[in-house]
Amino acid sequence: MERVRWNSRVIFMFAAIGSAVGLGNVWRFPYLAGKYGGGAFLIPYISMLLILGIPLLIMEFAIGQRMQLGASGSFGKIKHMLSSIGFGAVLCGFVVVSYYAVIMAWSLLYLKFSFNLEWGSQTAKFFSNNVLCLSEGPSAAGQVITGILGALVIVWILIYFSIWKGIKSVSKVVTFTMPLPIILLIVLGIRGASLPGAIDGIMYYIRPNWLALKDPEVWSAAMSQIFFTLSLAFGIMIAYASYQHHTSDIAKNAVITSIANSCISIVAGFAVFATLGYMSTRQGIPLGELAASGPSLAFIVFPEALSLLPMAPLFSGLFFLMLITLGIDSAFSLVEAVTTVVSDRYPHLRREDLSLYVCIFGFLSGIVFTTASGLYYLGIVDHFITNYGLVFVGLLEAVAVGWIYGAEKLRSYINEVSDIKIGRWWSFLIKYLIPVLLMVLLYTSLKRDIKVPYENYPSHIIWIFGWGMLAFVAVASYLFAHLSRPPKKK
Ligand code: PHE
Repeated sequence: MERVRWNSRVIFMFAAIGSAVGLGNVWRFPYLAGKYGGGAFLIPYISMLLILGIPLLIMEFAIGQRMQLGASGSFGKIKHMLSSIGFGAVLCGFVVVSYYAVIMAWSLLYLKFSFNLEWGSQTAKFFSNNVLCLSEGPSAAGQVITGILGALVIVWILIYFSIWKGIKSVSKVVTFTMPLPIILLIVLGIRGASLPGAIDGIMYYIRPNWLALKDPEVWSAAMSQIFFTLSLAFGIMIAYASYQHHTSDIAKNAVITSIANSCISIVAGFAVFATLGYMSTRQGIPLGELAASGPSLAFIVFPEALSLLPMAPLFSGLFFLMLITLGIDSAFSLVEAVTTVVSDRYPHLRREDLSLYVCIFGFLSGIVFTTASGLYYLGIVDHFITNYGLVFVGLLEAVAVGWIYGAEKLRSYINEVSDIKIGRWWSFLIKYLIPVLLMVLLYTSLKRDIKVPYENYPSHIIWIFGWGMLAFVAVASYLFAHLSRPPKKK
């Protein structure tokens, strides 16, 4: 059967950039920059982009396009047991999408709340008591919160209709979901920049603190940010590239995707810090206390800041609409990575049915995060999957390509089809430097987690949602590869 293709190169770029640009650009990058040296953070960030991000993205595009299969099929073509790397990647992705969709469900609820600024003045209390109905701690059993569950159903319906016919639907959807949030971000940025106090916020964001560069933590934060922000090691970029023609460009596409993604992160930082600068001036709260990352930035600090604006409901609505449209193409790219792997293996399955099964399964897996203890679980799962699951998969990918397939062999294919030619340095990075860097990253995370358990949560909870979940992903990946072993020739 002929493999489906992207409508055009631009659409492929839209899909790749849409996957890369997500919540991580808006709520993770600005926070890291503010915390780790302001403008000086750009040095580790850009170095890691060049050493780690772009080379790995080139590798993922190349392997998918060369093998014309999703993550597990692509690695399986190198050597059958290596297909477990691909299974590991998409399983990690599946875990991520199960909670990513829950964050989108919160955003959907907040979009509704925007109409009458329902969060009032106590946004932190509103978020934990009224929206999440948060339990006392991670050990407390919590029941499902129906409001979130209902929103989650809607989110999964949106995801399903974005991918139900695979790449054919994605091609259409990304023409809106990629540019729309960027336009909204620019609107919010311009609004933010014109507010009193904005400049203080912006100065806080960009003023370089060169001393920060001496701290190894800053470098490891830059490394994991690059991994997450480029959607590496989830099998997404491999799956997307597998729908390219065998002769399409690779290197330039990877460079464009990475640069576009980083520019959007930097712009997001201006928008976020301008707004925080305004809030700090209005309320006399020091900026350092306002700069937060993750859910607390989006659902606690920002709602409060946005309520201070003239036409607050409009700008709040735009903000949450931006979060939803930012998240959706990242979310469905994760699902598409999974369906590509399954459909490569069972090509006779109808794509519509397959997408439906994966979405239903993703929805069911996410229910645990809609309970009253869901936020705690979400934090743990996110911490372990991004710090270990992904980094480990990235390490295995680089070793498999560098040492087993042959970095030079892949490089000559890349150069055959690409406008930008890459030198031997690329093979050196894939074979030696990237694996070493990733091992250092794994080691530092492990050392930190052993010394201080994540958020000091009780160890049984960390074992279940952290290490246990990782062990499950690892064993399942191995077993999938083992069980799908092609029959031995006698
Ligand atoms: N790249 C996305 C971001 O920066 C995160 C993400 C990773 C989304 C992997 C999907 C898959 O938010």
